[in-house]
Amino acid sequence: GTPSLPPPIRLDLSDLDARLMQLVQQLAPSAEQRARQQQAWAAVQGLLQALWPQAGVHLFGSAANELDIGGSNDLDVCLELEGVEETKEARGEIISQLGEQLEQAGMLNVFAIPRARMPVVKFEHPETGYQVDITVNNRLAVVNTKLLRDYAAIDPRLRSLVLLVKHWAKRRRCNDAYVGTLSSYAYVLMCISHLQARSPPVLPVLQEMEPTHRRTIGNWCCGFCDDTSALAGFGRGNGESVAALLACFFYYWAHQHDFRRGVVTVRQSSAMTKAMKGWTTRVGLERHLFCIEDPFELSHDLGRTVHAEGCDKLRHEFRRAWDVLRHAGSSSQALQELLAE
Ligand code: CTP
Ligand code: MG
Repeated sequence: GTPSLPPPIRLDLSDLDARLMQLVQQLAPSAEQRARQQQAWAAVQGLLQALWPQAGVHLFGSAANELDIGGSNDLDVCLELEGVEETKEARGEIISQLGEQLEQAGMLNVFAIPRARMPVVKFEHPETGYQVDITVNNRLAVVNTKLLRDYAAIDPRLRSLVLLVKHWAKRRRCNDAYVGTLSSYAYVLMCISHLQARSPPVLPVLQEMEPTHRRTIGNWCCGFCDDTSALAGFGRGNGESVAALLACFFYYWAHQHDFRRGVVTVRQSSAMTKAMKGWTTRVGLERHLFCIEDPFELSHDLGRTVHAEGCDKLRHEFRRAWDVLRHAGSSSQALQELLAE
């Protein structure tokens, strides 16, 4: 295709880039924070294995794909149990039981949500202070975590972009699926699809390639090419800096994305629409205002939690971010305003 044009911007992009890369370094966990996280994970794993010796215990989410911001004391853990029905009722029962066991084992602030779409028990691990979320047989999350990690291994600009976008979203309070905005996971998918769509692309579409990782979970085919060493250097043809990619990211969401008809997807390079997905009418609480297709669970719209006010808020914030970058007199001013709380 034709090369993507950078949006019109007055700032010296190389100066902005230097500052952004410095910020990325500050956001990334230090060696010490990584070591503490590993310790916490080992302790939680030990505890769960003692309670459920027959279960597999897996780490997923940002602690596992290294798209985490340092000092966030969160662990997403999946308990894998054989012979448990793949229904939310069956999972919910285990979660309630697990909640009681964790309380008896001295965990703090144990809070079970057995009736959620994906039942979860949350608690604080007292020795390490880590906040832990446990789900049961959440196999899709384990495989989508691997997909994200593999994308991050192909081009380092993905991780930089993700850390900056997550940090921005937290500062601007746009990162809470429970109150009508978007989860971190949704933002990571937006970043991947953005880098796939640059011209030349920064990232390939791993699900359009010959699969080297094959799995079926329920009715979903979870195959993709995970040969990241063969794909290292894929993005070399695109010389855009992280600053340029971040500016384009905000410009795209502010002014180019078709919110009325479009669906964000990372599994194909051709455009996807709400009409193709049947995501055109509201069903119960699912509104489909801002549609982001899960890479494997294709019926799952990650934007289904976004309500009208949330969607307005997000679009306002994308436009604000782009305006800040466009009008700022200097890159330090741009960063300060972009990330103002
Ligand atoms: N996940 C999912 N479906 C969702 C939300 C989350 O499958 N609707 C899974 C994904 O595997 C994701 C993990 O849960 O990687 C954690 O989600 P989230 O906390 O949103 O993402 P993190 O990258 O862990 O973000 P943070 O660093 O803010 O904790
Ligand atoms: Mg997380």
